[in-house]
Amino acid sequence: MAEKITLSVIKADIGGFVGHTNIHPDILHAAKDKLHNAKEQGIIKDFHVLRCGDDLELIMTHTKGCDNEEIHELAWNVFSVGTEIAKELKLYGAGQDLLKDAFSGNVKGMGPGVAEMEFEERKSEPVLVFMADKTSPGAWNLPLYRMFADPFNTAGLVIDPKMIDGYRFRVVDVKDGRAATIETPEETYKLLALIGSTSRYMISAVYRKSDGEIAAVASTQKLSFIAGKYVGKDDPVMVVRCQSGFPAVGEALEPFAFPHLVEGWMRGSHVGPMMPVPFYEANPSRFDGPPRVICAGFQLAQGRLIGPHDMFDDPSFDGTRRLADKVGEYMRRHGPFQPHRLPDEEMEYTTLPEVMKSLEDRFEKI
Ligand code: 13P
Ligand code: 13P
Ligand code: MG
Ligand code: MG
Repeated sequence: MAEKITLSVIKADIGGFVGHTNIHPDILHAAKDKLHNAKEQGIIKDFHVLRCGDDLELIMTHTKGCDNEEIHELAWNVFSVGTEIAKELKLYGAGQDLLKDAFSGNVKGMGPGVAEMEFEERKSEPVLVFMADKTSPGAWNLPLYRMFADPFNTAGLVIDPKMIDGYRFRVVDVKDGRAATIETPEETYKLLALIGSTSRYMISAVYRKSDGEIAAVASTQKLSFIAGKYVGKDDPVMVVRCQSGFPAVGEALEPFAFPHLVEGWMRGSHVGPMMPVPFYEANPSRFDGPPRVICAGFQLAQGRLIGPHDMFDDPSFDGTRRLADKVGEYMRRHGPFQPHRLPDEEMEYTTLPEVMKSLEDRFEKI
């Protein structure tokens, strides 16, 4: 049997440049340096360092499986070194997503976002790594549904014999810390009943029903629930395997042609449209947004990451970007009113309890 490869995408915001728009080049250099050393030492097979907005994205391949302590510690150390640089340069929110002082076995629950999958490399293994800023993992629900359950998006669901049985979705209830597996097409409506509620239910993985192969994974760490209070948005990552029995690359990208509304821009407390952009345009600046998504395409070759190809660097997404700008403007005009502003319990920053306290005596029963 061929050796299994693990693809690990681990990310954190360890300090913004300037404000929350971007990452300082010194941090990117330091991260590349560290991972280069790890590759030389044989800890990882290959790596790529990217960034989306103010989030540092470590894309790594190895043969150690998911949740591997050595790999998670490596990522933690990269983030710690980056945090030191961020502190020295007084970058904004230095160490923002590192919720613990010392590493303890697994970065999950410590702040960083993680999407990992282990599989046997196929004859050709195209994978897409999606990375977003100014939003939350619930933002992947709609595109994942469309990729793996909507035949109006994914022609393969009705054309490819390996796909026609459908897919199995793992759905996490982040409020109660539990998860369920739901199958499509039979349970499509039940799936939608849950995942339409994007702040509570989040798709963490998708499997092909015919043989149980892993098809997609998403980071579902909600920093708010980890820390017991809102300490930062959880700008998510996601990995999707493509072609021959999985969605074609173009089918996996197609859902992003619609700039759907997601939570998370400005102070982590507003709703805005998701804008798919090339790497160099992932600098959310207007009202700290609109929320951005980038996609790095790779062909794997014995664990080597051949790429990245910048998937949204395509004028056929220009119309989506223009629409996102229009929708962003429309939402902005609501100012502090819902549904532009998030419901109280979803706001990252809120003065509401203090306002309520100051008005407490003024409220009377009616
Ligand atoms: P595969 O079945 O080889 O993935 O091809 C699908 C296709 O033609 C992409 O448009
Ligand atoms: P990040 O979660 O990307 O750090 O953004 C926070 C914010 O408040 C932007 O306005
Ligand atoms: Mg930030
Ligand atoms: Mg961010």
